[in-house]
Formats: sequence, structure tokens, C-alpha cells
Amino acid sequence: MSVTAVEADVSPRDTFEGSAPPPVSVGASLLIYGASGDLTARKLIPALYVLSYEGYLDDASPIIGVARREKTDESFRDEMKEAVTKYSRCPVTDEQWDKFASRLYYRRLDIDQADQYEAFGNSVREVESAAGFDGPRVAYLATAPSLFVPSVKSLHGAGLAPAEGEGVLRVVCEKPFGTNLSSARELAASLQSLLREPQIYRIDHYLGKETVQNILLFRMGNAIFEPLLNRNHVEHVQITVAESQGMERGRAGYYDQSGATRDVLQNHVLQLLCLMGMEPPARFLGENLRDEKLKVLQALKPGNPGGINDWAVAGQYVAGSLNGEEAIGYRQEERVPSGSTRETYVAMKVAIDNWRWAGVPFYLRTGKRLPTRVTEIAVQFKQPPMQQFQTVECDGDVCEMVTARPNTLIFRIQPKEAISLRFNTKRPGMQYQIHPVTMNFGYEDAFGAKLPEAYERLLLDVIRGDNTLFTRDDELEEAWRFVDPVLEYWEGQKIEPNFYSAGSWGPNESDRLLAAAGHAWRKPGV
Ligand code: BG6
Repeated sequence: MSVTAVEADVSPRDTFEGSAPPPVSVGASLLIYGASGDLTARKLIPALYVLSYEGYLDDASPIIGVARREKTDESFRDEMKEAVTKYSRCPVTDEQWDKFASRLYYRRLDIDQADQYEAFGNSVREVESAAGFDGPRVAYLATAPSLFVPSVKSLHGAGLAPAEGEGVLRVVCEKPFGTNLSSARELAASLQSLLREPQIYRIDHYLGKETVQNILLFRMGNAIFEPLLNRNHVEHVQITVAESQGMERGRAGYYDQSGATRDVLQNHVLQLLCLMGMEPPARFLGENLRDEKLKVLQALKPGNPGGINDWAVAGQYVAGSLNGEEAIGYRQEERVPSGSTRETYVAMKVAIDNWRWAGVPFYLRTGKRLPTRVTEIAVQFKQPPMQQFQTVECDGDVCEMVTARPNTLIFRIQPKEAISLRFNTKRPGMQYQIHPVTMNFGYEDAFGAKLPEAYERLLLDVIRGDNTLFTRDDELEEAWRFVDPVLEYWEGQKIEPNFYSAGSWGPNESDRLLAAAGHAWRKPGV
């Protein structure tokens, strides 16, 4: 049993509304390649609308959707209005929408057709000069990775790619950035032959989440926790990115090539690990932060000696039930080959082999069709050196004497964004009985505002030219270096994943990773 006992102590002066500085508007000419796709409608345009609504995006900034399909400005605006109404966190009023829509354009481009580039470039420049805009250009490549290089070539061919100065081009690449170390290196080399590294913004949308950014602020803006976050005090750390969704929106075509390791662990989970494990940087600036994250990845090692089976577990969901509804198995999903061995779940026991963390297991897991959608980092501290207190705990008729529960610090990234700390107290009564309680800081309770979406923050940062929250090529390489042998083994040997029922917390084999050390997975949010 646990008691949730906390209200954040926030005085009116500290509230979000009270202390947030007024927005400073910045501008760019934004070209969105892949403008007919899901990401543009669900995330990018709604995020830009919010930036415009809240006054962060300069009114003169043109936004130009680029894709192969035939569309007019008007039809693009209509489609985007529907998307913004559905997905943006700000209301769509006539006044706000008209202001936003008047800067929204669509330009058709077939990037295989070099003879279209010149006309495309002229048309973009016309739009920019009609808007009176002459700031930086941002090209967002919301396309398949195979189109990254051709897209950048089209920008060069269209004369839209200055490397610096007026009209400087910044290019944002969506993941996946390669499918293994060698393809990631190849892609990096091709892009770097066309752009300077500071022009390339590799997006990992987890870094744009407010609660992910807060990991660093919490660690380095408080004096009381950081001295405890090391091998002297921490027993182990668990990082969970659980999703209840399966293969919605016809994603299986992509997913069956990718799997949980490439799709989420190699990027989002390892980035969370970096933020939790890194040293405070000398200065809170992009390159310094990225240097420190890189060192974590360089120190990353398997958490157990022996073969891959001893520290990594692949799983795949079979039919089960989720939230009271029947769910089909992965192999029955549309566009999944019937004998697919693709992992929809991965768990790893890893170690950060450095002075701070040597000997502390980091358990990582992510998967589809788990009981709930939750992302969290749980730091479990060591037990007190002596167990002097006990209490009786009953589960139905079965009662047992238990000792102190370990202190746990939890960063709840989503949903119900929060930070909580579990510690032990005296249970009221005539005896010394120990009782675990939880102190909880909930974002919404404290700040009362809906948190910004990751893409809002990240788009604004590209426009500002701030790459702090983007992944550098050497970080990416290190992340691939770490997961490559695992994928090569699973894929090369066609290893059958361990099956788990949809709606469960993954295959039993993943418990084995922790059990040997006397640890167990948390059941977050349940
Ligand atoms: C994406 C993955 O990068 O992250 C998806 O491709 C996954 O498969 C998604 O569902 C999870 O992101 P979020 O923000 O919903 O946790």
C-alpha cells in the first residue's frame, strides 16, 4: 500500500503564468518536405500554429509545404485547418487561423526531376519576397530517409542552400537516421558532403518533451539529489517506454523493417539514459551537453558478461486482451509477414562503465501492446545499512512481515508528468511500524498549464539556430555501435523472439534479466 501525500508548494509568484517571460518572436522561411504525410498534419503544422498563436513565430515567416502530389495553396490550407483543429493545443479562431493560413503555401516538387529545381527555387523566392522575409531557411525533411539526400540536392539545385550568412539553410532530419552503424555513417557522409555539420538538425522528439528537459534542470538545479546519483547510493535504474498501441495507421510496413530496438531504444531510450547518466557540463550549451552525452554512450557496456542472450531480450506480442478488449497478435497485423521474427519489445541490462556508475545496472525496456502508455525513469536507491523496522503487509488473507521499501525517485515523462519520491515513514500507532509513502510533484497541478508539445519547442529551436536538443552525428554513431551486435545476432541468426500476450508487461524472459540480481521490474501506473 502507498500513500500519496503531496501538494506542490507553489506560491502565486512562482506560477507559470506569473513568471514566464513574454515570447520573443523569431522567423524563418520554412519548407516542409513530405507535406502530404502524417507527421506534417499531426505534428508539424499544429506545432507551427501554436508558435504563431503564442507569438513565438514572426508573422512574416512563410511556411511552404513541398511534396509530389498536385495541390493548390487553398486545398493545402483546408487540409491543414482540419489537422490543426484536431491536433493543436491552441483554439482555432477565425482571426488566428486567417493570420496563420495567409502565410501557408504549397509547392509541388518531384525531387527526382532536376529540371524542376530552378522553377521551384524561383517560386520559393517569390513567396519569401512577397512576405518580406529574408531570414534563415529551415527545410524540414519529413520524408522517408532515402529521400534525405535527394531533398538536400534539390535545395542546392534550386539555389536555396547557403551554408551561412543571409538565407542560411538549416536542415532537419526525422528518424530513422540509418538502420545500422554503416548505413548511418554513409548517410552522415552524404549529408556532410552537401551541408556543414552545424546546418544538420537530427531530431529526436523525446528531447523536446518538457519533462525530458527537466531531467537536467532537476539534477543540476538542485543541490540535494545530485550527490546521491552515483554508485555509492543507487542500487539500479529502470527506464521504461511502454506503449499500449500496436500497428495503427498502417505502420507495420515500416515497423516490420525496424522493430522496437531501432524504432525507440536506439534513440529515445538511449537519450533518456544519457540525460540521467551524464556529468554536469562545464557550460549549459549545446556542444558541451552533447559532449557529455557522448561520453555516456562511449562508456555503455552490456550489463552481464557472456552472450547477447545474457543481457538482451527480444519479445513479440501475440493475441491477448488490452483494456477489456481483444487485441490481435503482431503476426496477424496488416502488412506483417506471417512468420515475422521482428521484435515488438526489447529489454536490456546495460552498464555505464565509468567512475560514477560502475556496478549500477541500468535496465531498459520498450514495447508495443503493453498494458498502458507510460514513460518513466525510476532510480532505486540502496537499502539503509540496517533493517531496524518492520511492518505487517497483507495481500488478502496472506500477511507477512516486511522491512523498509527502497527509496525510489521517479521521473514520470508521460502521461501525468510528475516527479515523485518514495520514502518510509512511521505508521501511526503504538508501535514502530515502517510505512512507504510517496511525495509527488505533478506538473499540471503545479503549473496549471498544458505542457508544450515536443515539436513546438524543437521547431522553435531550429528557427533560433539552437542545436542543444538535437543529436550530433557522433552520438548517433555510438548508439548504433551499441545496438548493432544485438540486431546482427537476432536478425542474422533469425532468432525467434519471446512471445508475450498483448496487454501483459512483456515476455517472462525479461524478468530473468533482473531476477539474478534480486531486482524486479516496476509496474508503472498500475
Ligand atoms: C516514435 C516511434 O519515434 O516514437 C513510434 O516511431 C512511437 O513507434 C513514438 O510510438 C513514441 O513517441 P511518444 O511521444 O508517443 O512517446
